Amino acid sequence: METLEPNLADLVALAAAEFTAATEPAKLEEAKARYLGKDGSLTALLKGLGKLPAEERKQAGAAINKARDQVESALVARREALREATLQAQLAAEALDVTLPGRGSRPGGIHPVTRTLDRIEQLFRSIGFEVAEGPEIETDWHNFTALNTPEKHPARSMHDTFYLLDAGGKVQDDVLLRTHTSPVQIRTLLAHVEKYKHLDTLPEVRVICPGRVYRVDSDATHSPMFHQVEGLWVGENVSFADLRGVVADFLRRFFESEDLKVRFRPSFFPFTEPSAEIDVAFMSGPLEGRWLEIAGCGMVHPNVMRCGGIDPERYTGFAFGMGPDRLTMLRYGINDLRLFYEGDLRFLSQFN
Ligand code: DAH
Repeated sequence: METLEPNLADLVALAAAEFTAATEPAKLEEAKARYLGKDGSLTALLKGLGKLPAEERKQAGAAINKARDQVESALVARREALREATLQAQLAAEALDVTLPGRGSRPGGIHPVTRTLDRIEQLFRSIGFEVAEGPEIETDWHNFTALNTPEKHPARSMHDTFYLLDAGGKVQDDVLLRTHTSPVQIRTLLAHVEKYKHLDTLPEVRVICPGRVYRVDSDATHSPMFHQVEGLWVGENVSFADLRGVVADFLRRFFESEDLKVRFRPSFFPFTEPSAEIDVAFMSGPLEGRWLEIAGCGMVHPNVMRCGGIDPERYTGFAFGMGPDRLTMLRYGINDLRLFYEGDLRFLSQFN
């Protein structure tokens, strides 16, 4: 009995030290098994009690039970400490400073070219035009043939036009990315004729067709994708004088400049006859007095009318095609077209 109690005290101290050394729950449970488990040292001592003489048994039993209680409370305390440490570590890892200012979301804005397109639409709607659209992937027929563009015209060459590949990677020479919005003229006329085929006289066609167009071209003033707005007015008595009036009035309103000079310079396009290039000159500002080319136009060619299902003996019309990217550059004084398509917020946010 004299030796049992000091030995028990050592055992308790040893167990407590092993528990402290266990830095994770699994290790702690292994240490527990060495003392309190089925084959643990305290369990063995308890089992050995029966071999002791009766007069020693009671005292030894009390001492061993006390030691077991001490080991158990050391175990419970260590379990609690480990649980607390795990929780603290998790809290630290997931720390969230709710007092930090939020990231928020900044309001978006309208792209400068979209602003121009909206403005063009608004101005043309005010004089009775509707907005028509067509596909960006076009057929060779709509993009060229129906627009009176001869088979050997240079615009059809691989150099200017993006042709699509078929599934086998072969160039499809009848499917392309439209090089201008003019094919929408054909689509609009055909749909119009179909819609009003029950009438003796066709109602007038008055549309603008804004959209993206594509050409193999890239530098400070050319992008492989850019915008165009087509205009088309077809009716029984539409003349070149109407074309001049509509376009000049639009341009003065677009640039908010009553004294804007507008000039029609004879030119050539396969789909119009006669054809003209439209130039403008500002009477003030950095570009004062310089003629700037901003659109092509003309009276719709009889062959184009026929491809659109319209009788050119009875109806006439004018068309124009302008570059809203260019109009945006002029309106805001921008000198590099590529800025529009780089997505740099420092540039774009200036317009909002
Ligand atoms: N489609 C021409 C181009 O992309 C622009 C154009 C010129 C359109 C004259 C027209 C027009 O409707 O009459 O260069």
